[in-house]
Amino acid sequence: MSNYHIKHLEEYFQVYRKSVRYPEVFWEEVAEEHFLWRKKWDKVLEWDFTKPEIKWFQGAKLNITENCLDKHLYIRGDKTAILFEPNNPDEEAQHITYNQLHERVCRFANVLKSKGIQKGDRVVIYLPMIPELAVSVLACARIGAIHSVVFAGFSSTALSTRINDCQAKMVITSDGSYRGSKTIDLKGIVDEGLEDCTTVENVLVAKRINSDIDMKSGRDHWLQPLLDNAPTECAPEIMDAEDPLFILYTSGSTGRPKGMLHTTGGYMVYTAYTFKNVFQYKENDIYWCTADIGWITGHSYIVYGPLANGATTVMFEGVPSYPDYGRFWEIVQKHKITQFYTAPTAIRALAKENLDYVNKYDLSSLRVLGTVGEPINEEAWHWYNDNIGDKKCPIVDTWWQTETGGILISPVPFSTPTKPTYATLPLPGIQPALMDENGNEIKGNSVEGRLCIKFPWPSIARTIWGDHERYKNTYFSAFDNKYFTGDGALRDEVGYYRITGRVDDVIIVSGHNLGTAPIEDSINEHPAVAESAIVGFPHDIKGNALYGYVILKETGEVRDRDNLRREINQLITDHIGPIAKLDKIQFVPGLPKTRSGKIMRRILRKIASKDTSNLGDTSTLLNPEVVELIIKDAL
Ligand code: WT7
Repeated sequence: MSNYHIKHLEEYFQVYRKSVRYPEVFWEEVAEEHFLWRKKWDKVLEWDFTKPEIKWFQGAKLNITENCLDKHLYIRGDKTAILFEPNNPDEEAQHITYNQLHERVCRFANVLKSKGIQKGDRVVIYLPMIPELAVSVLACARIGAIHSVVFAGFSSTALSTRINDCQAKMVITSDGSYRGSKTIDLKGIVDEGLEDCTTVENVLVAKRINSDIDMKSGRDHWLQPLLDNAPTECAPEIMDAEDPLFILYTSGSTGRPKGMLHTTGGYMVYTAYTFKNVFQYKENDIYWCTADIGWITGHSYIVYGPLANGATTVMFEGVPSYPDYGRFWEIVQKHKITQFYTAPTAIRALAKENLDYVNKYDLSSLRVLGTVGEPINEEAWHWYNDNIGDKKCPIVDTWWQTETGGILISPVPFSTPTKPTYATLPLPGIQPALMDENGNEIKGNSVEGRLCIKFPWPSIARTIWGDHERYKNTYFSAFDNKYFTGDGALRDEVGYYRITGRVDDVIIVSGHNLGTAPIEDSINEHPAVAESAIVGFPHDIKGNALYGYVILKETGEVRDRDNLRREINQLITDHIGPIAKLDKIQFVPGLPKTRSGKIMRRILRKIASKDTSNLGDTSTLLNPEVVELIIKDAL
């Protein structure tokens, strides 16, 4: 039996049982066999969910980039590490070998050092999906700087909030980015954001679109000349297993984004282990995850997990609809992709288009298909299975979170029989529990509850940067001695899990995790707005779309409502980004509130989804009359 590579269902059960009975033995074996450590750990695990404090492989020394790069140079130095597919299909793809990537990372790391970046400093990376993004991430890790990648679709305000929260010393960006037929002025957004920041000393600028941009002297530097002059070797900084690797922001139930902190050793072990098993990765595979490295999916399953396994990982700069809706499938054919990992929202969007876009291409290289980010509906699952996988490729519906660092619940393909809309079984080391509203664990099968995890796994986030109290309150306070995920789930008659969706104030739109509070905060900044409430409602492609209920300040005054709607959406775009725009905005005289002043979102959700036949218990409402008024004018 091999802990590291599960090949059939019986083996999965054996490995799983061992991982639960002897978690430390299990993870120690995985860690020992497959990674380069400069020094072994003194203790595999120390944990206390009440504090909460979690430490894996304490005392061990390593550098994650030695495991992602140096380790491979002898045996696969000339193998492609990163396969870059540009936005424009006429531009040539780039095959960056492990040798080349190693050199590029070392040069970049030396540039960071020359600009004063040291171990523990925070570096914000705001780049499109070009090779420099992966290289800069690894360069930070090489010298022990903490990277914080901000998705390059976020606005200047969202960027500056994150820079300020982690007190970044440097920003890495580009002159601009390509997105389908459009270009985006990234550097302009950075300049605007930096007006509100005082900690940033240097900005490194990669050239991508050759636009004419302002370079602030003393602060801004073109990256390429610095790289050209940098030494090609950079000794890795030797890190402790629990030293921070990166901060990645995710939205929460207050306006401030949460900087989830991931550390080095456990994160490496878990992402590498899950990549190997969930994608059944083999040496000559060409693996493609369509996510952006700005999200956790890209961190764990474009960069670290695949590279730790010596894989070829594809980075795609473009969008699924450019130059037409066949782009994904054209790329699958062109590079003979073996594993393809995407989001349900992309599948739904492509399923709407003519099947000729799929049938034109030879997809026979595919072996495993994956989805992530939100529940996948049955129809999309079958479309994916029939038309992309030709009914031969198992679909891994992978459930996890920014906070979990890696995939927690997923089929192991060719072992776990799949079931549409089910993430199926916990991976080795993961101990899920379903909880009822009174805080009791619901045992047995065919039950539904709130999804918690009872035992730590190596890649769980260790804290929220600068706010450990919030970390404790958000994840460890709802249920005693358990990590609370914020999701609801059901367990079917054989023990398979199906994620039913968020049970808190987070809404997943097109696979993006959006907190209602930051959106409401942006709307409330409009001078005409008194109060607002956001809920999600079902949407064909996006999964959920946003519905806003807005109370205006001066009642009675006639205004141009459509103009007001545009202004509100512009505010949201400025504060967060276009992904958080509202599909519907209803102006209302009031919001349904409980006597304690809490908005009853349950009712607003029902109205938004046009399901008002049974509103449930409304006896605690302070102002029941307002509900009728809202229903009357619902959009
Ligand atoms: C939330 C986490 C993990 C990478 C992308 C999202 C939802 C994620 C699934 C799935 C149903 C899913 C959950 C989770 N989610 N994967 N396979 N089935 N729901 O990371 O932005 O931190 O969002 O995404 O609601 O809590 P994230």
